[in-house]
Amino acid sequence: MAKDLRQFLKEYERDHPEDVITIERPISLKHEIGILVDLLDRERKFPLLRIKNPILCNGEPSEYEVIMNEIGSRSKLAYAMNSTWETVSHDWRRLAIENKQKPVVIDRSEAPVKEEVLKGDDVDMQRYPAYQPYLMLPHPYVSLAPMITYHPEIHVDNMGIHRGEIQGKDKIAFLFSPDNHNSMNFYKHEQEHNKNMKCAVVEGLHPNVLMASQTKMGYPESHFETCGGLLGEPLRLVASETLGDDFMVPADAEIVIEGEILAMKRTAEGPYSEYTRHIGAQRWCPYMKISCITQRKNPLWSNYAIGRNHAFQGLAREFKVYDMVKQVVPQVTKVYLLPHAGGCDGLGFCFIQIKKTAEGQAKTAIHAALTANYGIKHVIVVDDDVDIYDERMVFWAVGTRAQPDKDWVIIKDVMCSIVDPSIEYHWGSKAGIDATRPAPPEPFLIPTMFPEEDMKRIKLHDFIPKEQLEKIPDAFRNIDPEK
Ligand SMILES: Cc1cc2nc3c(=O)[nH]c(=O)nc-3n(C[C@H](O)[C@H](O)[C@H](O)COP(=O)(O)O)c2cc1C
Repeated sequence: MAKDLRQFLKEYERDHPEDVITIERPISLKHEIGILVDLLDRERKFPLLRIKNPILCNGEPSEYEVIMNEIGSRSKLAYAMNSTWETVSHDWRRLAIENKQKPVVIDRSEAPVKEEVLKGDDVDMQRYPAYQPYLMLPHPYVSLAPMITYHPEIHVDNMGIHRGEIQGKDKIAFLFSPDNHNSMNFYKHEQEHNKNMKCAVVEGLHPNVLMASQTKMGYPESHFETCGGLLGEPLRLVASETLGDDFMVPADAEIVIEGEILAMKRTAEGPYSEYTRHIGAQRWCPYMKISCITQRKNPLWSNYAIGRNHAFQGLAREFKVYDMVKQVVPQVTKVYLLPHAGGCDGLGFCFIQIKKTAEGQAKTAIHAALTANYGIKHVIVVDDDVDIYDERMVFWAVGTRAQPDKDWVIIKDVMCSIVDPSIEYHWGSKAGIDATRPAPPEPFLIPTMFPEEDMKRIKLHDFIPKEQLEKIPDAFRNIDPEK
């Protein structure tokens, strides 16, 4: 059996029942689900949610189940790749880039996503449980559905996620950031060939396929092969219904929405809740005219916890930063993109751990990391005695090992995330902090320590029972019951 979302859900539920919540009680896709995810986020919890009876934004009961948070934590992504919390980013690179596999094409009759083929009046995006989580969003959004397009000259596939505002039964507006390959394909179609761009928007995919969509490849370079690498088996493809037999789509998806992005047409998109947890401005964007929808019977629909997701996009950037830094500072030991600093997705703060051997290495690492991705805004470099997965320890290093006048670096007028609310256009400034000690043999104060053998011997649970420990309030949280 091919790997798909259903199989992932079944296995994850079997292996981690404690991290799966099934909600039978009706809950509205307009604001209520957003609030639920936010409340869980405040508790620092990101369980996989199966919402069995969602209410559509127009108040009607949904025919279909909603899934959320299937990629909502680093540990779930590690699970999907048979990896570990610490090594998941490196395994992502290894599988996606070094273990690529060519896709296979199957017949329409074997493809689960062709169980139902909807055309003409049967095409109605308003039937689907897309959500509208925050105030000020004008319509429900498609939030976790990679778009497939092809290069107009050499027909190489591309896959990237774009948020899509459902503006009518057969109309979705999409934001195309200029660095993305779907946007490059679109401008080639529109500006060089004066043609519409065929595209398919794919809902309900195995987490590894979603990860493939976020693996930054060269342009143009196949994401379908990356899917095979991450899945550990070739991605199964099937020909589209209305875009031609050479336009292939994933056969094991839940829903495929086929259509064209119209050349020389734009519509107002947004305001939208950006991943930065701010409402981004309305923009003039291209839109898709839908020609056909194919789907499984009772398809599952995924909504993305916008601004509340804790791992996904940042994790995709982590190995990229590591590789860039490693080229110039081989002493790098670990890289961690703080999952919630940019609102989410880890683009706001990047922590780098090095085993420093000479002066200048930390600042070189800062420059390499800041240019590894346009969205990485702040970098902190620490020594290898600092746990970079614990931000308290990183800020301890900043507080005790860095001098602002000597150790802070600011660079100006470089490309930044277009949705960063603190910049006007798409360029701005970035900063780094060298929070490392001087390189040996320069002296520096020694941190407080314990005898190693005693550290190994003494266990907290031997003195305070586990149940009692769990009841002690989190000292870093406001637990005032009124709040
Ligand atoms: C949930 C989610 C939503 C995203 N929304 C958009 C979007 O609306 N527009 C955009 O240009 N990129 C968006 N991205 C980023 C792209 O999907 C990402 O940069 C991807 O790597 C692009 O790959 P490509 O350059 O191969 O097309 C989103 C990413 C995620 C995870």
